[in-house]
Amino acid sequence: MNKKGGIFYKAKRAAMFIRKKTGLNPHFGIILGSGLGNFAGNIEGGKSIPYGKIPHFLKTAVKGHSGRLVTGKLKGIPVAAMQGRFHYYEGHSMGEVAFPVMVFYQLGIKSLIVTNAAGGINPDFSTGDIMLIKDHINLMGANPILNLIQDGITDNFEPFVNMADAYDKGYIAISEEFALKSDIKLKKGVLAAISGPVYETPAEIEMLRRLGADAVCMSTVPEVIMARALNIRVLGVSLITNRAGETVSHNDVLKESDKNINKFSMFLAGIIEAMSNEQ
Ligand code: HPA
Repeated sequence: MNKKGGIFYKAKRAAMFIRKKTGLNPHFGIILGSGLGNFAGNIEGGKSIPYGKIPHFLKTAVKGHSGRLVTGKLKGIPVAAMQGRFHYYEGHSMGEVAFPVMVFYQLGIKSLIVTNAAGGINPDFSTGDIMLIKDHINLMGANPILNLIQDGITDNFEPFVNMADAYDKGYIAISEEFALKSDIKLKKGVLAAISGPVYETPAEIEMLRRLGADAVCMSTVPEVIMARALNIRVLGVSLITNRAGETVSHNDVLKESDKNINKFSMFLAGIIEAMSNEQ
């Protein structure tokens, strides 16, 4: 059942609009985090659609998030990239934040690459490090699947989402192999997600460290949960932009993302090519 006006119905309409505009059947969905939107410059023949033009899409008002969907080919592979994402802290519901993943699903995407800027907690991590997400701790206080059962469910949607293997081990192995070949130092860790937009106190970071978190962010978890509910394979990549719990501003985060965008883009493009051989 797909309730008219429900979130699944809206996602179908949004996907129909995107397909009509672009004529593309993307294989990969990519969500670009704070200051990482310039990766979309690598997409060739890219058609970019402002979020405001896509039916039922929200707008993003956060600096460092352009608010465009860029579709085209990356090393010959059809992709759709979100240049900027929606955040829970902007006042959207978790379901709304994860809505683009439903649209990706309706576009036929089988794999999602989700990226973010994150504060480093693990003492072995340095600013500028790339971290593969191996697991997460959802401390956002909500979940994107809440209430969806009432909204009408597609055949493939599983509300009791299995999160035991949310971050695809095969994709992690491919990424590690690519990093080794390309001489990119790669970290791997557990990502904690808080609602934000407030950064954490040192005491909160000590708590997160004791809980087993290696890095912390204000995003990603809603989209990953939605992807897993729809059986989309997920790879998560964080750029460590600062030491969590130490003085930082959003501008500092954006500056650090910008500083590392070439390395980050090279890594992302490389792993997408490697992953596409496995898809
Ligand atoms: N905390 C939470 N989210 C973040 C941080 C941080 O230190 N840096 C980038 N995103």
